[in-house]
Amino acid sequence: MATPDYTPFVFLLLLFQSGVWGVPVCQTPQESPTCGYKSCHATKPGMLNVHLVPHTHDDVGWLKTVDQYFYGDRNDIQHAGVQYILDSVVDQLLKNPDRRFIYVETAFFYRWWKQQTDDMQNTVKQLVNEGRLEFVNGGWCMSDEATTHYSAVIDQMTMGLRFLNDTFGHCGRPRVAWHIDPFGHAREHASMFAQMGYDGFFFGRLDYQDRNRRMVAREQEMLWRASESLTPPMADLFTGILPNGYNPPEGFCWDQSCDDPPIRDDPDLEDYNVDDVALVYKTNHIIMTMGSDFQYENANLWYKNLDKLIRYVNQMQSNGSEVNVLYSTPSCYLQELHRANLTWPLKGDDFFPYADSAHDFWTGYFTSRPALKRYERISNSYLQTCKQLEVLGGPISRKGPFGAGDSETLKKAMAVAQHHDAVSGTEKQHVANDYARKLANGWAHCQVLVSNTLSSLSGSSAPRVYCEHLNISVCPLTETMNVYNPLARPVSWPVRLPVNGTAYSISDAKGKVVPVSQATAAVRRGRGYAVNELLFQVQAPPLGYSTYSVSLLQNGPPSPPSPLPRAPTAVQNKVWVLWYNASDGNNSESIQMSGAYIFRPNTSTPFIISKTAKIETLQNSVVQEVRQWFSPWVSQVVRLYTDSRALELEWTVGPVPIGDDLGKEVISRLDSSINSSGVFYTDSNGREVLQRRKDYRPTWNLRQSEPIAGNYYPINSRAYIKDDKDQLTVVTDRSQGGGSIQDGSLEIMLHRRLLYDDVRGVGEPLNETSDIYPEGLVVRGRHLLSLSPPATAADTHRPLAQEVVLQPSSMDFEKEFSGLQAVLPPAVHLLTVSQWDQDTVLLRLEHQYQASESKEHSQPVTVNLQKLFSTLDMLGVSEMNLSANQWKDEMTRLDWKAESGTHHTGVTNQLCLLSPLGCVKTADLL
Ligand SMILES: *[C@@H]1O[C@H](CO)[C@@H](O)[C@H](O)[C@H]1NC(C)=O
Ligand SMILES: *[C@@H]1O[C@H](CO)[C@@H](O)[C@H](O)[C@H]1NC(C)=O
Ligand SMILES: *[C@@H]1O[C@H](CO)[C@@H](O)[C@H](O)[C@H]1NC(C)=O
Ligand SMILES: *[C@@H]1O[C@H](CO)[C@@H](O)[C@H](O)[C@H]1NC(C)=O
Ligand SMILES: *[C@@H]1O[C@H](CO)[C@@H](O)[C@H](O)[C@H]1NC(C)=O
Ligand SMILES: *[C@@H]1O[C@H](CO)[C@@H](O)[C@H](O)[C@H]1NC(C)=O
Ligand SMILES: [Zn+2]
Repeated sequence: MATPDYTPFVFLLLLFQSGVWGVPVCQTPQESPTCGYKSCHATKPGMLNVHLVPHTHDDVGWLKTVDQYFYGDRNDIQHAGVQYILDSVVDQLLKNPDRRFIYVETAFFYRWWKQQTDDMQNTVKQLVNEGRLEFVNGGWCMSDEATTHYSAVIDQMTMGLRFLNDTFGHCGRPRVAWHIDPFGHAREHASMFAQMGYDGFFFGRLDYQDRNRRMVAREQEMLWRASESLTPPMADLFTGILPNGYNPPEGFCWDQSCDDPPIRDDPDLEDYNVDDVALVYKTNHIIMTMGSDFQYENANLWYKNLDKLIRYVNQMQSNGSEVNVLYSTPSCYLQELHRANLTWPLKGDDFFPYADSAHDFWTGYFTSRPALKRYERISNSYLQTCKQLEVLGGPISRKGPFGAGDSETLKKAMAVAQHHDAVSGTEKQHVANDYARKLANGWAHCQVLVSNTLSSLSGSSAPRVYCEHLNISVCPLTETMNVYNPLARPVSWPVRLPVNGTAYSISDAKGKVVPVSQATAAVRRGRGYAVNELLFQVQAPPLGYSTYSVSLLQNGPPSPPSPLPRAPTAVQNKVWVLWYNASDGNNSESIQMSGAYIFRPNTSTPFIISKTAKIETLQNSVVQEVRQWFSPWVSQVVRLYTDSRALELEWTVGPVPIGDDLGKEVISRLDSSINSSGVFYTDSNGREVLQRRKDYRPTWNLRQSEPIAGNYYPINSRAYIKDDKDQLTVVTDRSQGGGSIQDGSLEIMLHRRLLYDDVRGVGEPLNETSDIYPEGLVVRGRHLLSLSPPATAADTHRPLAQEVVLQPSSMDFEKEFSGLQAVLPPAVHLLTVSQWDQDTVLLRLEHQYQASESKEHSQPVTVNLQKLFSTLDMLGVSEMNLSANQWKDEMTRLDWKAESGTHHTGVTNQLCLLSPLGCVKTADLL
């Protein structure tokens, strides 16, 4: 082996599984003379250049479902039809080679493309090759930034960008990330975009106070240093704030949906003062987004007026005007900023929370639709399992004894679910139902694939049973039960199976039977009648299965519960379930109501559901439980499994009562004696952790106007408070919002039910019901609590959070199997194993510790790829960027200079891969 070189944090490789060995050909991209930066229109150095960017913002579901938007169905809800937009824009682009258009959402473009003739496809390729139609962002959707997990974001970006590269090659690769609508911006998203090779990033929404300050200071364009662990410029991303959200300047909207007067054929133009806009930016270039939601269905209106605008404004140059207007794209604008050769202010934190006015904090959607958020999260886990088993099973997984299965359907459903009105919970109810239906359909396709792989690996084609409702103790009992572990290290996991018997024997495990709780019996609503639960701990090998056979020994009433155990008692007085009453708009300071987007409690003091709970306790060799029943709509179980690293809090909330005509936002609050001094920590998209401070923002002097909502942040997988001695960490099972309002206290919002729309577009109150819960949705979830010394806390919560994100799935199977020959080092997380082409597999490994986070694990680490997989014969390796749409050695990014010295600590947790070719070497990204 060659001397190990170190390569950075996240990587991706292709392994050649079978077939002819060859070093992948890394051709120099065929630089078409006209696409990319070379296709930009010339600008005029001495003038103010106004870049007009024709664009449409096409939500992948919001007020209508993604299908309704594509076809233009249900125009009574909202007039929008994406197929017509693309038809019309292509037509108009052909009429004048100067015209430009950008397209963003590959989910829609892909559908449209499939329906075009060869002739039309060739025409569109020509437009792309000439830079007249340019893709920006290019993921399957424009993901939400607050409530998504990095694993699912990387997957959806990979899918969209792969289609663009497969279809258009080099000219289809977006240079710019474009998140014009998401409601606040996560640092981890910026870090991912940098590692995906984007040259820059533009967005529209940020806190109104932050924007005002940045306008005065001319800091609307900056260099975002998006990781504390990666060596600059690896996670540096040039970031620009658009001047008018993503809308056209007032008076300049020429879509059929707007009322602005068209340009008449005389040069007497209405004066729009571009100089005012230029005043708040640094260069003599400004960008104007000419378009908005679902615009350009009749693109002629837009382009005819834009042609005239450009002609007449530029004609005035002969009379001394110094304004130059041109058709442009975000990348052409970016290129001019780069050419300006300036230094830019550095940004190290993120853009949460987002407020558009003093009492209007967009922090409610961190929790909105908690059941959909959970379903999205476990669907991600199941998708990873499905993709792994597609690789481990080979072709039989897709066509086997159980029929035709695939991972594509779930991949697409998951990609759509990342949209900023999907997992965010800000869509209409019928659209939320559609996302869930799409995920369920994806599960069904994956279940066939999984069954095929299992039968191939085990040689038995007995039907498989899947337990999707173990959360409410509903599952058909089978005699053998199998657990698949998608993590690259062995895990031990508690299982609870619904049963009627009172004693069972389990191969390789000791089980205990406990009665089903009153709360569980209540939430099942006729979907299962088992009276007991059989608890045992299962262990599963890395990327593998283990089997447990369960046999009934005895029927009869379960043994009476034992006395109250000590450990949970200490906690139970410190965990409260409380609620805030939602603002109904009847308030002297502001009429803003709480809704799907916005959180606005009507007082800062939450109500305690009940100080006294009906308590049941039980204790056996597997678990100690305190079951607390606070009210008919709130209960909680404090649970400690033997040998567990964390205490489990299982909450069940709903139907939230609305008889008093007040919406309610229910929180779980942990009170401790930790001296947290107003500081707490939350993760960013499940990856790096950011420090938060009450009533404070790192980049401006905050005037706090909402003491609760203005202190809420997204929590994707964990949050903590600490002092010198102790760290209290909470690991969540889905994205939620939360904050630390009092020192030593951490609160997390669980569920919300609201009676008013918050006037941000969705037009419905967030008042969820379902067929099973017609009087109000009931939701159940878990928090895992760990208390450790701060120095070693990450050693517990990092792996714990991964176990919750990638949880084992239970199914029956006959023997133990592991897809890995060796366990990965604890610092390394196996993020992706996915079939790429027939003979290639996409693999992503990740160093999962942040710099200085753990004495033991925040260290360089080496993985031997050659000895990693047990069923794959690895022939070669080639490295790609994070989104797998560029070979690593072809990756070049624009370099940007930061204004002041670096804030970087200089530590990189490097990861080195040993392959048949020696250590894989990575070129620096610059
Ligand atoms: C330039 O100025 C002259 C004199 O004011 C006017 O007649 C002419 O229309 C102007 N041309 C343009 C293109 O504005
Ligand atoms: C950019 O500016 C630096 C000084 O800040 C100068 O040394 C360099 O030559 C400039 N580069 C270009 C391409 O103008
Ligand atoms: C358990 O017993 C209940 C009646 O008490 C019955 O309805 C249910 O079907 C039984 N469940 C199982 C799994 O045997
Ligand atoms: C909320 O849902 C309940 C149950 O469906 C319904 O009775 C009530 O009218 C709804 N309230 C609002 C404001 O939508
Ligand atoms: C239980 O999990 C299923 C998904 O498997 C989800 O749809 C359902 O909402 C969950 N039930 C509760 C009460 O949270
Ligand atoms: C992108 O597409 C081109 C043309 O089809 C191909 O040669 C190249 O290998 C692809 N790049 C990646 C990273 O897959
Ligand atoms: Zn949107």
